[in-house]
Amino acid sequence: MTTLDVLKAKYLEGIAAAADEASLEELRLAALGKKGEISLKMRELGQMTPEERTTTGAALNRLKDEIDAALRAKKEALADAALDARLKSEWLDVTLPGRPRRAGTIHPVSQVMDEVTAIFADMGFAVAEGPQVESDWYNFDALNIAPEHPARQEHDTFFMARDAADPRPPHVLRTHTSPVQIRAMQAKGAPIRVIAPGRVYRMDMDQTHAPMFHQVEGLAIGRDISMANLKWVLEEFCKTFFEVPSVELRFRASHFPFTEPSAEVDIRCSWEGGQLKIGEGNSWLEILGSGMVHPKVLAAGGIDPTEYQGFAFGVGIDRIAMLKYGIPDLRAFFESDLRWLKHYGFAALDLPTVFGGLSK
Ligand code: DAH
Repeated sequence: MTTLDVLKAKYLEGIAAAADEASLEELRLAALGKKGEISLKMRELGQMTPEERTTTGAALNRLKDEIDAALRAKKEALADAALDARLKSEWLDVTLPGRPRRAGTIHPVSQVMDEVTAIFADMGFAVAEGPQVESDWYNFDALNIAPEHPARQEHDTFFMARDAADPRPPHVLRTHTSPVQIRAMQAKGAPIRVIAPGRVYRMDMDQTHAPMFHQVEGLAIGRDISMANLKWVLEEFCKTFFEVPSVELRFRASHFPFTEPSAEVDIRCSWEGGQLKIGEGNSWLEILGSGMVHPKVLAAGGIDPTEYQGFAFGVGIDRIAMLKYGIPDLRAFFESDLRWLKHYGFAALDLPTVFGGLSK
């Protein structure tokens, strides 16, 4: 074997056996680097005869190209192998099903809103909405609550910031869902049957009050809708909502600026053994405010009070959720405690319907 054949065998075997890029680089320097074996051989060409130089020079160049090509090919093969290994270790089966132990639950407030919506939808009530940042006019004036009316103080209103130079009254965080009555009447006219569930705000905080809570408003306007219709609708609602065969309601004369006459409604119940039972017993529980819509409120909604009349009511959603599901402290509703949510929450996708069962 010639010296060149020995060099060739040595480097090609070394390259084939190299396990990583670092050993490849070592081999490259040893062969083709400035002081590499091939480079030194190139330098010897100067002392050769012209004939020797032609043949040995060509052979050296071929050897140099061969080693260079082998280095490149091996480098590519090492990179491919590294990628293969990475793909294998990072492989992920995207068709695997999700992990059910992470399933969330439906908050009792959402559940009760769905239940209430299902019950009233069954009686032909559509859902109406309004903004939570409401104008002073919609929240108060349009509902017959004049600026000097004491109800404005009772509501412990949150006011939005307004430039001191601006003469207009500031917007408020709505203190009840009643302004949606006005918006719905303006948008749809009469006759109309809507409920409006949503968030409301008052500056108040204890075991039964939170600065943000939920109400559902009801409104039914037609040519001859009366208190009798109101009573039937509320009885029907309470029976279905509390999932009992019968209920007894007591209408207590009251006062709201936006209804005339006005009534607060109590439901018959018992607290035997600390357990609340709806529909029987000797106690009464206040559950909502209601009445016949005041003519001024109809007019503010763009409806002619000489042609149309009807009823309205407002229910505290958190309160009826606490009663139905035996939840003692209102504040827990808004603390997002996972253990509480797991205990009191409802299975997702079990949508309440009147015919299929509300709470299962
Ligand atoms: N807006 C009242 C409140 O927040 C509740 C209410 C009472 C609503 C009587 C009504 C109603 O629609 O007729 O306390």
